[in-house]
Amino acid sequence: MTEQRINPSILSADFVNLQSELEAIRTADLVHVDVMDNHFVPNLTMGPPIVERIQAVSPVPLDVHLMIADADRWAPGYAELGAYSVTFHAEAAADPVAVARALRERGARAGIALKPGTAAEPYLELLPEFDQVLVMTVEPGFGGQAFMPDMMPKLRRFAEARARHGLDVWLQVDGGITADTIGIAAEAGADTFVAGSAVYSGVPEERIADLRRAAAAH
Ligand code: DX5
Ligand code: ZN
Repeated sequence: MTEQRINPSILSADFVNLQSELEAIRTADLVHVDVMDNHFVPNLTMGPPIVERIQAVSPVPLDVHLMIADADRWAPGYAELGAYSVTFHAEAAADPVAVARALRERGARAGIALKPGTAAEPYLELLPEFDQVLVMTVEPGFGGQAFMPDMMPKLRRFAEARARHGLDVWLQVDGGITADTIGIAAEAGADTFVAGSAVYSGVPEERIADLRRAAAAH
């Protein structure tokens, strides 16, 4: 069976008690950190100083999701502060391959994210440049939105390209992932699952275990 990863998003955590909220998800594979700039998306979260502190206290390595403009300029800094993976949006990068190379040079896994309206095609042949692809299953910007099953054909295209290239690229989904929807995404080829509200609306360790079971049972 393919290895599957559950990455809780701390966007749904209590930001005033981040340290204990991070401890509560220590059974996660990676901690998903949503960086938003009020420009690429209509919401604002945090920047490098806070991500750096999260990195310092988190028992689990960070999966940083940049929803910010001008990824070319800002993404490499997140690799420098020690993030395990850094994912930037295709729509926000002038030269996605150059950004990915800069991330890898700095020791991070390089990820590219696609908004629901962005087609897979230009990126399928670039797959060897990336360590992970994030197919957004909601419009980026907010937690708690409904999963978009119509993104599954896009996910399948990436899964086919991955097989064709014989690569070990992780396929990630983010948005509306619950114990009910995770199987749909796993079936379409996803192996890495981000969940915010589904994890933090209950006892996080139990929710993570539920998601793992549901993903494995697809
Ligand atoms: C949305 C963020 C997500 C968000 C997911 O733009 O990228 O990571 O936290 O939240 P849920 O799981 O509640 O849809
Ligand atoms: Zn995210």
